[in-house]
Amino acid sequence: DGFPAEKLFSQGYSYTYDDVIFLPHYIDFPTDSVQLNTKLTKNIHLSIPCVSSPMDTVTESYMAVAMAYLGGIGIIHSNNTASEQFSILQSAKSRRIPVVSDFEIKSPSDVIESESDFGSSSVILITETGSRKSRVLGYVLKSDWMNLKNQEGRVCDYMTKLDFSVPSSYDLDQITGFLGQKGIKLVPTVKDGDGEIVDLVTMDDVERINEFPKRGLPSLGPNGEFLVGAAIGTRESDKERLEYLVKGGADVVVLDSSQGNSIYQLDMIKYIKNTYPQLDVIGGNVVTMYQAQNLIQAGVNGLRVGMGSGSICTTQEVCAVGRGQATAVYKVSSIASQSGVPVIADGGISNSGHIVKALVLGASTVMMGSFLAGSTEAPGAYEYQNGRRVKKYRGMGSLEAMTKGSDQRYLGDKSKLKIAQGVVGAVADKGPILKFVPYTMHAVKQGFQDLGASSLESAHNLLRSKILRLEVRTGAAQVEGGVHGLVSYEKKSF
Ligand code: XMP
Repeated sequence: DGFPAEKLFSQGYSYTYDDVIFLPHYIDFPTDSVQLNTKLTKNIHLSIPCVSSPMDTVTESYMAVAMAYLGGIGIIHSNNTASEQFSILQSAKSRRIPVVSDFEIKSPSDVIESESDFGSSSVILITETGSRKSRVLGYVLKSDWMNLKNQEGRVCDYMTKLDFSVPSSYDLDQITGFLGQKGIKLVPTVKDGDGEIVDLVTMDDVERINEFPKRGLPSLGPNGEFLVGAAIGTRESDKERLEYLVKGGADVVVLDSSQGNSIYQLDMIKYIKNTYPQLDVIGGNVVTMYQAQNLIQAGVNGLRVGMGSGSICTTQEVCAVGRGQATAVYKVSSIASQSGVPVIADGGISNSGHIVKALVLGASTVMMGSFLAGSTEAPGAYEYQNGRRVKKYRGMGSLEAMTKGSDQRYLGDKSKLKIAQGVVGAVADKGPILKFVPYTMHAVKQGFQDLGASSLESAHNLLRSKILRLEVRTGAAQVEGGVHGLVSYEKKSF
């Protein structure tokens, strides 16, 4: 019944995830016993197979922290200066809890003139000099200030005094314990050493995070810090950028290119392996066995797969080069597995079924852009468009992003002509990834259960031994597989 993957993917067609469907197999274990722990690279273990994409509307500090907290990893984008990327990395490395804290700072003699002094936050912290690097003295809640009779006074005359701070290395349990023990509503976390304020954590934050669904073990390095990756390019200046990132504690570096099989990338891999032998390098992007073989021989520890499959990508249309993502993941994984090099299926993930397909076809992790964009943890502010709350999401090859510097991803540095290989758009507000990623992982486990695969390794074995079978879906079968034939139903209120 159906086709083994080896046969299906050798018929001259380029298949996307939606083109193919697995046939169900046999269930002899409960959903909860499915294990999704995996490897990002030969040396980096994760408890969920999720990676956030190095894009400037996807991964900065908050996203990287939340991904590591969930058991995945975030890759900090490089569409910035080396020192900007370094400070985003450091700010992720210095956090241990995934709050997206928003607060303003003033000094004791300042006056709050209007509600707008609170910005988008609901609290102003008062520090000795009004900077993040000085001692915290107190705070003013917006709700308290609104109820003040005399709003003209200096903040020190009516602030709530705060004598405590905790190290930013405290984890959620330690902070929950501290707030409970002291009976206080909020506490700033500060960096060891210079005492710079990192976050302001409230009891509400802590309770909200504790209520989110079950997650995997956090991704921690040997020193107890969250694992965080960073992207670089292949120019000479990226060697200097890399030096910063290594100093900042990057656990893995991703060579960010749409066509990774180039002399530039091969040289960079050799340089990194000679200069920082301990640092894991992910090469890519690749979509063919030939490309993959070259990067594996050069010594990469992981491979990123996908060309033109991303939701904001126009590479296939502009350059006529690429591959359907299901075929690309299967082909590259089948050669990479022979050398034990894990594969990241990058781009084109828009539902949990796509994740199941990517992983079963041979990937060890999925890298996601649009799936994570629009979340609370993604960079940027929410805007309202036609009554919907959205956040911007843009391709790193879009003209807008390239104007900020990301054109090296497309090796377009020599000429003055910029050719866009991506677009700018917006993604609807999805809420915190802390909430929807655990749900997504549970759905992925159900998919694995239907296939009789209790882990990634078992799925890969079942596929290779031709026990798992697939078929191509016709256009009509794809329509049938989605929601169809309904008119919208509006709930009546009684
Ligand atoms: P998704 O589908 O998750 O894709 O939104 C994210 C991936 O898309 C790639 N990427 C681009 N590809 N033009 C492209 O052709 C672009 O401007 C662009 N920006 C990002 C990248 O691999 C990312 O992880």
